[in-house]
Amino acid sequence: GGRSSNPLIRLHEDAASFYHQVLLTTKAGERGMQYARERELSRDILDHFQIGYAPENNVLLMYLKGKGYSDDDLAQSGLFIQTEDGRMFDRFRDRLMFPLGNENGQIIGFSGRRLSQDKTQAKYMNSPETSIFNKSKVLFHFAEAKKAARSEKRLVLYEGYMDVIAAYKAGVTAGIASMGTSLTDQQIYLLKRITNNVIINYDGDDPGIHAEERAVELFEKAGGFNLGLVILPEKLDPDEYVKKYGVEKYQEEIKGALSPTDFFLRRLAHKYNLQNDREKLLYLDEAVKKIATISNPIEQDLFLKKVADKQGVSLESLKASLMREVRKNR
Ligand code: CTP
Ligand code: MN
Ligand code: MN
Ligand code: MN
Ligand code: MN
Repeated sequence: GGRSSNPLIRLHEDAASFYHQVLLTTKAGERGMQYARERELSRDILDHFQIGYAPENNVLLMYLKGKGYSDDDLAQSGLFIQTEDGRMFDRFRDRLMFPLGNENGQIIGFSGRRLSQDKTQAKYMNSPETSIFNKSKVLFHFAEAKKAARSEKRLVLYEGYMDVIAAYKAGVTAGIASMGTSLTDQQIYLLKRITNNVIINYDGDDPGIHAEERAVELFEKAGGFNLGLVILPEKLDPDEYVKKYGVEKYQEEIKGALSPTDFFLRRLAHKYNLQNDREKLLYLDEAVKKIATISNPIEQDLFLKKVADKQGVSLESLKASLMREVRKNR
């Protein structure tokens, strides 16, 4: 599309192409390129996501001033840190830059990843809230994923940028990221207008799995979604999983996404020591309670059978206990 009438959006689009050019064509960008190679980001990927590099010096400020942006626009953009006496400095330094778009794909902010292992610096630094950037409404790669979802018929939700990118390389092109683990109602609202088929594939570590549980609750509260849940092994995130096991295995993980009930039962099983009879009874009790909340009787039967088979108890006893649960709830 053409240039936006909003000067702050124009400024961000100029900044994004500047950072991209710095990465691809300059001496200063070589550090960024070296890092991009380590992360296996090809030229095509760098272009598709318009990834860039913010160098050490105050070059963005000079570049945008040269383009004629006013001090006011520069100050409002959030891309500069202002001293008390009003001087401005580039906020992002020596970082790999991920442009963040609004729902129409116009660039409204950035997230920059540190290149070094230096843990005293935040791994990712984000744009501050501005008149165009509201973190709780932003989904990384949303505008592109919206198009891809027309053919893929679903969206896949990730935690991080590198996960969306790894998925994209694996042919899952309708990937988006909530930029960390705290999904918001506004983000769910954006998704709902695209499709009700959503797969959630957060990191396989404990924070990721817990965030996935919270996300399921949020989606169920919103209602009307058909959810699939992926739990990756060995605490891997999707990017690490694709590196370790390859594209085909990753596609199988997506195809094998769990239903919310299967996901719940699997998480529940993880909370108990099922070798111990007393704990197993507690598990079965909670499992039956959950299955009792399912309205479709065929689906109820299906899950009862699964639990009965897996735990080596009779279907009849589980059914009896389900009936008791149902009577209690009436
Ligand atoms: N995040 C953030 N600020 C941080 C750490 C994380 O905004 N200091 C957000 C980023 O959007 C990041 C996501 O949370 O992509 C997931 O965090 P994490 O799993 O820690 O990072 P990865 O995406 O795995 O990043 P990488 O692979 O580059 O280490
Ligand atoms: Mn994580
Ligand atoms: Mn846990
Ligand atoms: Mn991660
Ligand atoms: Mn990662």
